[in-house]
This record gives sequence, structure tokens and C-alpha cells, in this order.
Amino acid sequence: MLAVHLVAFFFSKLQEDPTKKVDRFLHAMRLQDEQLVDISSRFLAEMKKGLSAESLAAAAVKMLPTHVRSTPDGSEKGQFVALDLGGSKFKVLRVKVREDEETNKGGVEMEEKTYPMPKELYEGRAVELFDHVSESLKDFLHEKNMSPEKKHPLAFTFSFPCEHPGLDQGLLLSWCKNYKVRGLQGKDVVQFLRQAIDRTGDMDIDVLAMVNDTVATMMTCGFDDQFCEVGLIIGTGTNACYMEELRHIDLVQGDEGRMCVNTEWGAFGDDGALDDFITDFDRDVDAASLNPGKQIFEKMVSGLYLGELVRLVVLKMAKLGLLFDGHVSDALRTKGKITTGDVAAMEEYRNGLKNTKEILTRLHLTPSPDDCVAVQHVSTIVSFRSSNLVAAGLVAVLTRIRQNRNLRGLRITVGVDGTVYKTHPQYPKRLHKVVRRLLPDCQVRFVLSESGSSKGAALVAAVAQRLISQRRKVDEALSLFTLNQEKLQLVKSRMREGLEAGLKSKDCTIKMLPSFVYHTPNGTERGKYLALDLGGTNFRAMLVRSRLYHKIYTIPLEIMQGTGEELFDHLAQCVCDFLDYMGLKKVRLPAGFTFSFPCQQSDIDTGTLVSWTKGFKATDCEGEDVVSMLREAIKRRNDFDLDIVALVNDTVGTMMSCAYEDPKCEVGMIAGTGSNLCYMEELRNIKKLDQSNSILKTNKQTSEVLISDKKDLSGSAGCVWHKAAVKSGLKMCVNTEWGGLGNDRCLEDIITPYDAEVDIHSVNPGKQRFEKLTSGMYLGEIVRQVLLDLTRRGLLFKGHVTETLKTPGIFETKYLSQIESDRLALLQVRSILQQLGLHGTCDDSIIVKEVCGAVSRRAAQMCGAGMAAVVDKIREDRGLDRLSITVGVDGALYKLHPHFSQVLKETVGLMAPQCDVTFLPSEEGSGKGAALIAAVVQQKQEM
Ligand code: BG6
Ligand code: BG6
Ligand code: GLC
Ligand code: GLC
Repeated sequence: MLAVHLVAFFFSKLQEDPTKKVDRFLHAMRLQDEQLVDISSRFLAEMKKGLSAESLAAAAVKMLPTHVRSTPDGSEKGQFVALDLGGSKFKVLRVKVREDEETNKGGVEMEEKTYPMPKELYEGRAVELFDHVSESLKDFLHEKNMSPEKKHPLAFTFSFPCEHPGLDQGLLLSWCKNYKVRGLQGKDVVQFLRQAIDRTGDMDIDVLAMVNDTVATMMTCGFDDQFCEVGLIIGTGTNACYMEELRHIDLVQGDEGRMCVNTEWGAFGDDGALDDFITDFDRDVDAASLNPGKQIFEKMVSGLYLGELVRLVVLKMAKLGLLFDGHVSDALRTKGKITTGDVAAMEEYRNGLKNTKEILTRLHLTPSPDDCVAVQHVSTIVSFRSSNLVAAGLVAVLTRIRQNRNLRGLRITVGVDGTVYKTHPQYPKRLHKVVRRLLPDCQVRFVLSESGSSKGAALVAAVAQRLISQRRKVDEALSLFTLNQEKLQLVKSRMREGLEAGLKSKDCTIKMLPSFVYHTPNGTERGKYLALDLGGTNFRAMLVRSRLYHKIYTIPLEIMQGTGEELFDHLAQCVCDFLDYMGLKKVRLPAGFTFSFPCQQSDIDTGTLVSWTKGFKATDCEGEDVVSMLREAIKRRNDFDLDIVALVNDTVGTMMSCAYEDPKCEVGMIAGTGSNLCYMEELRNIKKLDQSNSILKTNKQTSEVLISDKKDLSGSAGCVWHKAAVKSGLKMCVNTEWGGLGNDRCLEDIITPYDAEVDIHSVNPGKQRFEKLTSGMYLGEIVRQVLLDLTRRGLLFKGHVTETLKTPGIFETKYLSQIESDRLALLQVRSILQQLGLHGTCDDSIIVKEVCGAVSRRAAQMCGAGMAAVVDKIREDRGLDRLSITVGVDGALYKLHPHFSQVLKETVGLMAPQCDVTFLPSEEGSGKGAALIAAVVQQKQEM
């Protein structure tokens, strides 16, 4: 009988097991493994959404790139001050990373002080918050005897969602947890901190890096464990970060390596993704928070809310009569009366029930032992749900890393911090167990961040400091190419002096070669002409009639640098081929010969080569008449004939061809393989022509004929004609050969050591110094010299000087143009470099692009300053306040480079403000111009 009673008693007790009713009541909070797997895959989808450019605007989980690209590698060092704001404590610290001998072996020393955060600041104005922060900082420096005069690098842990344009910038997306400070959302938090530091005064602080607490935690733990690639916070708030492959982060350019992404997983569910897991209690907690509708996942998980969830459950159960015999106290009705600390205490291993009783008694309740068991169980369910949700999130993160790396298993360490994880007795164990159960193939290690986030933040700052110092060195190298107004003025006046000197005497750096072209075309030129064009890497033959027919022939290097005879035989061979092709071999056509090298002309159809420039150096040509050389080569073949009526520099051909379209075109410029300019000069200014007897010899043949409208001037003696021509204000086109400026070392204050290297290794050292700063043939070489230097100094390509980099000529102008194109993403720049055999990171590509930019910008500015000297001279010679003039231009650098033409134009505008200069790109090259000159010569000869 007694036994029956005992069994009945036992069963009645079982039925009354208070945990059962709690289980039933909180059924929705007890998550099974299938549900966790479901949540995990939902989070995985959210992560993808947040990383992709198309969907990130709508993504609840922001997946913020942090600009932290590596976990600690042992090279970090330095002494830093650190701020830690946003967790449960506000702290200022001093962190020494491998600073003294003793700590050098991997050691970090830290001293910290926690400062109070007055309640009103949580919801006050941003300025007040940061004034408090910077006052605390100042107090700390004072207390630690850190000199106010010395610059102290600072690392800032700021535990809120921020978008980072760089490591030292962070735009606050929104406040959360217990902060709702006015006037900071959307602004740069670092800027606010810097301004506050300035206001406080008496300290010199250099804010190097601002990081999220998850990132700092990952770095802290990564210092001792190289497998640590995830940072996790379960504290006042909750969040995780991890190392993502750069190629998956659409917001950041680049595809190699990894970057830490701050998931901001607290916002998971803000778009309804967790609605079927949300209970009425979660809704109540959310409604009473500072940010309703936001941070839904965080409110189910983190320390700021766990106590509140427990209180709301207990209150509801009491109201329903399931606890305390239905008794409810005012304290139980009051927000915040159960804290997360209470939750932890209630679940303590031995004292849990005792603690529960005390807590409930403190709330003016009189709990029965069953009530205590029930309330403790409420706590357990709420905190278990929290750790389960974190496990689900973490499983998604680890799965993503595993997928990224194409691995089945994964060995990884998760660095963890936060009061919930640190103080709740059961939490870590439960979390670890679930993660390992859901990811049996992964070897996951959890490491508690003992020293808080500041150690990690300091490590990030140390890397930043190293990068800044490297950046400074790159900037210093590039600054050598910067031309301020003063330097541009210097170039302009040196050019002007050079032009004037060249007009007077023969032996000057700027040759100022008379072209014997007195007229730009008047539109009446007709006929069929052949034009030959030698000067770039190619030789062009063309037939100019109403239409233009042409063929391009390459000139092999061995011919460029062989004998003169071979070169001209080759040209004759090309012309022969062209005439064959056009079916014109039997006709003796008049021809214009564009020869893009300095020629001392004595008439329109004769000229001796002064010196080779660019890549040419065929022997036995300098000092010879190039027209005769071509004629002889044709004679040697004896299979066609040509009437070479004009020898023209490419600048002159370009000017003529453009002047056919625009009568205001009186300047011709080439920015291509070489750099040169010609313009219409007053005959009276070409003083050296007075003394030249060539004019005597030639005026009767060509010059005189060219000036048909000045027929009355045709006297018998050349000097009579010349005097009359001068008097009548006649002009002649002068090929300046401005590339020679600087041969007398007048550009030494502009020439960099890199330019000097290029010059020394060129075929004509000491010559064409201006051309070597401005033309396509040399810009790539200058770039290569800079890259070599930066690489040797360890600032590029990881310090590896490769054979490719040592190869002259790898950077042709077309590559510079491609690299500098604004339309190209960094990845494309990198692939161009790879084609060239330069294998670097995207960071390397940024530097290469900057080097190209600095070199080509200087080239365009130099040409602009030179051009300004020319147009101002023309304006002054004509006695005008304003000059409106057109410049015909050609050359690959001008036509193909994305910025050259714009910078050139801007510089001319700046340096010759009284001139309106229009640039007209030549449509058909200088060949058409040469044909036009041939036509003029022919017309006059026939008259
Ligand atoms: C601290 C870190 O240890 O943990 C902080 O130094 C971080 O940066 C905090 O915000 C998170 O935990 P809690 O519980 O203080 O919010
Ligand atoms: C061409 C002209 O269009 O441009 C040539 O016809 C000239 O005469 C050339 O030499 C200059 O450009 P590049 O880039 O080929 O040196
Ligand atoms: C909040 C913040 C997040 C931080 C986390 C932990 O979720 O938004 O940035 O990491 O709290 O402190
Ligand atoms: C070189 C030549 C010059 C030519 C220029 C552009 O500077 O010396 O004659 O005009 O290149 O091709």
C-alpha cells in the first residue's frame, strides 16, 4: 500500500516537473538541429547577397569590407595608444608590440584604464561623446607620462557598423545596442574623433586605423594562432567577421588574396528572413529597444537583450498563473530588472538555484523551489537558443570559408570575445558542441581573446603604419615628376629663349630649321600625288587624289640601324611594291617625302640630315641629302621613276594637312614616337636666313614660285627677293626640332635620376633631352626605371626584380595608354601587366598606374608649356592682345593616350592665357600634307 502511495507521489511529482511546463511554454525557442541547419543556410544566402554588387543595396546583412588584408604575420611592431568604444566598457590603452628587447620575441605589453561612460552620452550629441573620449585619452596620456609633444599613433576599436573607404575612415551606418547618439550617422567617425582631439588640444595623435571589435578580436587571437580567421563577439551585441576571398567582394577591386569582412550579422532577419523563428517575446524586446525593427538576430542572441527576454517570459508565465501562484511584482514589470549577469548566475553549476532564488527575491517575489527550477529553466532555454543561433551563424561562415577554399574539411580557429561568452558558465561549451556536431568534418578551435580587442587593433595599426611609410616613399618618388606653375614657367621661358636663339644661329639646341614652305594650302590644290612617310616605326606610301590610298610597311630594326644604302633601298622597294599594287609603276608621279628627322633644307626638295633621332641610326646618312639618297636608290632599281618635289618634316606635313581643313592652323605638332613642333614664323625673324646663301640659290626655283600672289617680288637676285619678302610680311614654316631643348643642360632642375638613366642607355645620350621627357619612345622607359627603383627598394612586386623588368622597351606607348585608361578596372590593368610578364598584386597595379600617370602627365605639361612659349611668341610678333590659333596634331601619344590631350590643353590654357588654342587632330597623317605641298610646288612650276 505504502509502495502504491510512493509511486503515486513520485508520478505526481513527475507530472509537476516545472521544467516541462516551461518546455511547453517556450517550445518555439527550443531549436532542433534541422532548424539550425535551415537558419544556417538562410544566413549563407544572406552573406552572398551582401557581397554581391547587384544585391547588396537590398541586403540586410551588410558584409562590410574592412581593408584588413592579412592576419598577423609577426612583422608588426610599434607603440600605440588604443581606444575601445562600443562594448560594455569604454577603455583607453597603451599597447607595445615588440617594442623592447624583451618583448621583441612575439610579445605585446598592454596597460589599460576603463573610463566611465556617463548615461546621458549614450543618447546625447556626437560632439559631446567624442569630447569625452578625447578628454579621457588626454587624461590617460598624462597618467602614463606620454609626452604631449610626441606623435602617438592610435588604433581605434569602434564596435558599430561602419563602411570603410579606407582603414582610417569609417562612415557610421547606424547606431545599435544602447547607443543612439545624434549627428553621426552617415559621417566619418574618425573625422569626429580627430576634431575632438584638436578641440581638446595638447596632444599629437595620429589616428591610423579604425576597426570593428570582431576584426580586432580576430587579430588579437591571430597573434598567437595563425589559423585564426574568424572573429566572434557575443557580448552587449553580437557579430562575426572572417577572411573572405577578395575576388568575391564586389565592393573592393582586386582578385588575389583575402580581406576581412565584417558581416554585421546582428541585422540578420531585419528583412523578415527569421520571421518564422521570432516569438512574441522577441517582438516585445524589439519594440522596447532604441532601434525597433533593426538588429533582429542580435536581439535574440546578445547580452543586452538576454536578461530582458527572460524577464518577459517570467512575467508572462506569472501573469498566466504558471509561476509565483500568479503573483507579479512591480520590479518584475520593470524593464532591465533581470540582466544577462543574472541569467549567467541562475545557470551557475552549483549555486544556480540559490542564485535564482536570490534574484527573484530581489524582485520582490516569493518563489517556491519549483518556481526557481522553472525560472532557471527559462534562463537555460533563452541562453541555449542564443548559443544555438550563434552556432548556426558560425556554421554558415565556416561553410563559406570551406567552400571558398574548395575543401572538405577545414582547420580553423575562431577568436571570441564578449561578456556573454566570457561569463556565462555553460555558453562556450554548448556553442562548441553544436558547431562541431553540425560540421563534423571541420576542426574548429575556439580561442578566447584574453586581452580584449586593443591588441588586435594595434596590430592593424602597425600594418597601416608600415603601409603609410611605404606609400610616402612611393609618393616621394612620384613627386619628382610634379611640375608646379613655377617650373612650368621655367620650361616656357627656356623654350622661348631656345626658339629665339635658334632663329639667329645655326648651332643651337633648338635647330629652328627653315622648311621653305611659305603658305598653308588655299584649297585650290588638285591632282594626283604620291606621298612617302618615314619617321615612326612604319614607312607609309600613299596616293592622294580625291581619295587616299595607302599601304604600311614595317622597317625592321636591323634596317633602321644598318647602312644608309640599305635603308633607302628598303624604302625604294616599298615604293615599288606600292606602285605595283596601285598599277602606277609606269607613271612618273610627283611625290612629297615626309621625313621625320631634322633636315637642314636649302630648298623645298633638298635637305641634309642633321642627325638621326628616335630609334634610327643608319650609317652614312648624317650630313647627306636624303632626297638624293632616295633618288639614287630608285635609280639603282631602275624599274620605276618618281618626281620627288618636296621634302617635308612630319610636323610640317601635319600642319599643312590640318590647314587644308582650317585656315587658322599655323602650328603643327607631333606627340608620338618623337616630339616636335613647327609653326609659321615671320620671315623677318629668321635672321640666319639673311646670311644663308641658300636663299640666293633657291629663290628662283621654288621659293619665288611658291609666293605666286607676291609675283611682283620676284627679282633677279635672291637677296633682293628676300628683302622684299620680309618687307611684305611673308612667313615661312619653321621646324623647331624642339626635342633638342635641354641638350645644353638647361632642364637639369626638371630631369630626374630616372630620366638620366633613360638618356644614358639611349642611342643618342645627351641629345634630344626634351624629347626624352615627352615622347612615346621614352615614356615607357622612364616608367620602367621608376618601377625598377621602387622594386629594388621593396615597395613594389614584393621586391622581386625580374628579368622582364630589366628588359628595355617592354612598355610601349600603347600599353601606357591602356594602363591609364579610366575605363579599366584594376584587374584589367593587372592582366595587361601580366601579359607584359609583370606579375604583381592589385596593389602593385595601383602603383604602376600611378607611375604611368605621373610620367605621362609631366610629358603633356612639358609640351603644353613649350606650346605656350610658341603661341605667345606668335601673338607678340603680331602685336596682338589675343591670338586665336589652331594647332594640327598627330602622333600616337596624342591620339591614343586617355589623358595626354586634355592635360596638354589645360596647360596651354594656364601658361598662355591670352591665346585661344584649338587642337585639330590630323585625319590622314602628314602624308596628305606632304602631297599638298607637292601640289603647291607643282602648280607653281607649271605656271
Ligand atoms: C571587449 C573588447 O573585450 O569585448 C571590445 O575589447 C568588445 O572591443 C567587447 O566590444 C565585446 O563584449 P561586451 O560584452 O563588452 O560588449
Ligand atoms: C603619323 C604621321 O600620322 O604620325 C607621321 O603620318 C608621323 O608622319 C606620325 O611621324 C607620328 O606619330 P607616331 O606615334 O607614329 O610617332
Ligand atoms: C553590434 C555592432 C557590431 C559589433 C557588435 C558587437 O552588433 O553592430 O559592429 O561588432 O555589436 O559589439
Ligand atoms: C623627332 C624628329 C623630328 C620629328 C619628331 C616627331 O623629334 O627629330 O623631326 O618631327 O621626332 O616625329
